[in-house]
Amino acid sequence: MDTVPVLTLCAADDVPLNGSLRIEPEAGLPALAVFNLDGIYYVTDDRCTHGEASLCEGEVDGDLVECPFHQGTFDIRTGEAVGAPCRIPLRTYATSVMAGKICIQAEQ
Ligand code: FES
Repeated sequence: MDTVPVLTLCAADDVPLNGSLRIEPEAGLPALAVFNLDGIYYVTDDRCTHGEASLCEGEVDGDLVECPFHQGTFDIRTGEAVGAPCRIPLRTYATSVMAGKICIQAEQ
């Protein structure tokens, strides 16, 4: 069985409470959005699936993020597109906090 590589993204303290931080990881991955929902961290692709918007520039409202371009919404926890015009889910990443750092399992 192949091991999925673990990638360290940032310090947990760098992600604002009930907000997000945009990360540009090295090699092979797109820009990512790290969300802090009441101390639980989630990582998704940063780019909206409807267009070129950065979701880190959108509003976090509860478990949802609203795209700044056309106000489509996604469930941050699952990546599900829950508000039009977004229909395609966001990619999400298995996320953990290790020694105060946000880490994901990321297949390239
Ligand atoms: S680009 Fe995000 S809703 Fe259109």
